[in-house]
Amino acid sequence: MNEWKLWINGKWMDTQETIDLKAPYDGKLIARIAKGTADDVTKAIEGADDAFHSFKKWTAHERAEMLYQVVAIMKKRKQELAEIMAKEAGKPIKTSLAEMDRTISTYLFAAEEAKQIHGETIPMDAAPGGKDRIGWTKKEPIGVVAAITPFNFPFNLVAHKLGPAFAVGNTVVLKPASQTPVSSLVLAEIFQEAGLPAGALQIVTGGGKELSDALVTHPKVKKVTFTGSVDVGLQIKEKVGLRKITLELGSNSALIVEPSTPVDQIIKRSVEGAFGFAGQVCISLQRIYVARSIYDEFVKAFVQETENLVVGDPLDEKTDVSSMIHPEEVTRISEWIEEAKENGATVVTGGEVTERKLQPTVLTHTTPTMKVVCQEVFAPIVSIMPYDSLDEAISLVNDSKYGLNVGIYTNVLTDALHAADELQAGAIIINDIPTFRIDNMPYGGVKMSGYGREGVKFAVDEMTELKFITMKTTFES
Ligand code: SIN
Repeated sequence: MNEWKLWINGKWMDTQETIDLKAPYDGKLIARIAKGTADDVTKAIEGADDAFHSFKKWTAHERAEMLYQVVAIMKKRKQELAEIMAKEAGKPIKTSLAEMDRTISTYLFAAEEAKQIHGETIPMDAAPGGKDRIGWTKKEPIGVVAAITPFNFPFNLVAHKLGPAFAVGNTVVLKPASQTPVSSLVLAEIFQEAGLPAGALQIVTGGGKELSDALVTHPKVKKVTFTGSVDVGLQIKEKVGLRKITLELGSNSALIVEPSTPVDQIIKRSVEGAFGFAGQVCISLQRIYVARSIYDEFVKAFVQETENLVVGDPLDEKTDVSSMIHPEEVTRISEWIEEAKENGATVVTGGEVTERKLQPTVLTHTTPTMKVVCQEVFAPIVSIMPYDSLDEAISLVNDSKYGLNVGIYTNVLTDALHAADELQAGAIIINDIPTFRIDNMPYGGVKMSGYGREGVKFAVDEMTELKFITMKTTFES
């Protein structure tokens, strides 16, 4: 039996209670996880605060070196780490390996960023009172960061919080998703081997709201970074007050396919965007708006490609789509499909469910008020809808409470730039799907999709305090 404790102050710590962790794919027991309490969280925060006082004195070079070590260890352990993720998240092994590549690249960006954190000089004599003064800014670490992470990218979305935090000299208390704790707990060994001091990374597992509340309300936590649902994000934001916060929340991401698009060249990519990790991705392709002149051709080709997907065991290298994270999610999403059908939607392919899986599902004749369109589905379901003009497509995309990434395919430069101006989102991806992300680009949303930005350099900014220093160069008054 794979048994895991809490990781506090550089040691494994027992708890009175444990939780059985079961595989999403077949419900088999895969590990036993410590069930932390609010007191454990307090201990973790106090240890992280103590560690901060020495860690903040590390030089940029030392922080970068430690992160390069993490990169080297992860490269060696890549297959083993991907298998942990495949088992506990039900993420197909080929997708898990791709996530490990991205995770390594995120830590590499963090190592490089550690050496680039700098302030700027301010032209003090630009104002009449600034004569004979020099002024400059510096970016200082802020202290203990509380990181609350989701199940869907159990390594890379953790890396997007730990990498920037350590690059700048902060310490972290990490609370991973309850379904994917092992992908985080294994980091304890990796960071310790890389030379991170005891207490700089604390990992608390086994609880939902009780642990989160203890974490985000503690006054020694100076920054909260959360990826997850809108409801939980809003609750956390209310508790954080004036302290810093980054929220990466949901989306019902959309793609516009303009008439100039060569359909055959974008189908494979679009299908990947809709069904990668069973659609359980914040920027999963959920709404596709296709110009009416190429609509039938697009739907036919998209359905054919969807039917080629291999649905099965996450540890099988051939699998494209596996189970959903929990049987309750299958129940929820079956109800949403039923609601859509009752209101006139057509299931063109898919729709079949078992206890743990939903077959990749393509819907047509969907309308803006159906849950499968206006809510975040977080499941392998996509709706394909026709439109008559680019402005109509833009307004359909913008008719959403979310705004994370939006994609548009077009050969017409002026249309691409017009759409980029008008679309309401954190990122506009021209000639690719909204699911596109590399790990140095700014990532975050507008409207209910979030608050703040990740992407290593941008997260570093949000994890530092800007200090201004000025000096008079003469004692004359
Ligand atoms: C997310 O689901 O928020 C992250 C998507 C990604 O990093 O590709």
